[in-house]
Amino acid sequence: MQAGMAAGGPANHGSNRPDLRRVACNPDYWYPLAQSRKLKRNKTLEVAFAGEPIVLVRTDSNKVFALEDRCAHRQFPLSKGLVCGEQIQCGYHAWRYDATGAITTIPYMVTGVRPPRHVRAYPCREAYGLVFVFPGDPALAEQTAFPELPWFESQDYKVMSFERDIACHYTFMHENLMDMNHQFLHRRLMGRVKPRLLSHGKGDGWVEAQFRFGDGGGKKHRGANWLTIGGSDDETNFEIMTIRTEYPYQTLKIAGIKTGSVPSLALWAAYVPTDRHERRSRSFGILLVKKPRMAFLLTLIWPVLRHFTESVFAEDRMAVEAEQRAYETQGGDWNQEIFPVTIELRDLLLARGIKPVDGDVRYTSTAP
Ligand code: FES
Ligand SMILES: [Fe+2]
Repeated sequence: MQAGMAAGGPANHGSNRPDLRRVACNPDYWYPLAQSRKLKRNKTLEVAFAGEPIVLVRTDSNKVFALEDRCAHRQFPLSKGLVCGEQIQCGYHAWRYDATGAITTIPYMVTGVRPPRHVRAYPCREAYGLVFVFPGDPALAEQTAFPELPWFESQDYKVMSFERDIACHYTFMHENLMDMNHQFLHRRLMGRVKPRLLSHGKGDGWVEAQFRFGDGGGKKHRGANWLTIGGSDDETNFEIMTIRTEYPYQTLKIAGIKTGSVPSLALWAAYVPTDRHERRSRSFGILLVKKPRMAFLLTLIWPVLRHFTESVFAEDRMAVEAEQRAYETQGGDWNQEIFPVTIELRDLLLARGIKPVDGDVRYTSTAP
């Protein structure tokens, strides 16, 4: 045994339990692959899902479609091509494709040659300022629930969007947010807040936990105070934080015990693997903050809130990337998890994800 390793070995050692960090994200869901504002009219955008290159196209009429980012001719990335009206033209030999991936024009097509196969088209939808793609079986796209953000359209909320790349498996992101016992990591920003698990539950495809924060003193960032993170010891008036993974998405809500179901803050997040081995993720977040009676106050403090959320995220990123590095160094998952909510969450991520298959290079290579 190496020095420093706990007795007993990796979490999945000696059992038939798959290694969660090798469980692939299930592609049969809708995933955000880009912020809408990054996909300009008559332009392309190169994105990826678990190593599959995908090109997003915004046409002249503002329609968005998604194709495999490889020309059928010589696999040249279509993202390097030109948008021509409602079609995309490969930048190499000028073959053209429509939104279904069918080849519409080959400028030098010779008679008697069998037309080549089309490229793969992905179901694609735009919502909440994000471009969503269904990377799995397209036959399942229509019947698969599209994420719902109930307060997104409400004038009562102000919206902050995030997109960040993180060098870790997507499961670390779910576990980080769900386990509020990690507030010690944020002690410089949050003060010494004391999280307390009030309740937790699980069901078909979801795990949820509710926390209350006691105020343990210490100096808090102004953003934490504004967002009412940090708690109150008043037994008649305190905030409850609800965190939920409803596979594959995650939400966080803060609502006062008195205001009930109307949150003062609501976060929706998705973690999308970008590389083939799923050791990198692109995290998309939408944060909704309830406007106070004097809404201009929120506008005034908005840069402070953004700085606060960026600072919190930087600490979380540091932690989850360190977890991924430890996983690589130790050659397995040596975590000794004791928090029941995290254990339930791990079971959910395992049940809904795609298990590693022996001999599948996707899970056995250590190359990035
Ligand atoms: S590689 Fe695209 S047209 Fe030749
Ligand atoms: Fe955190």
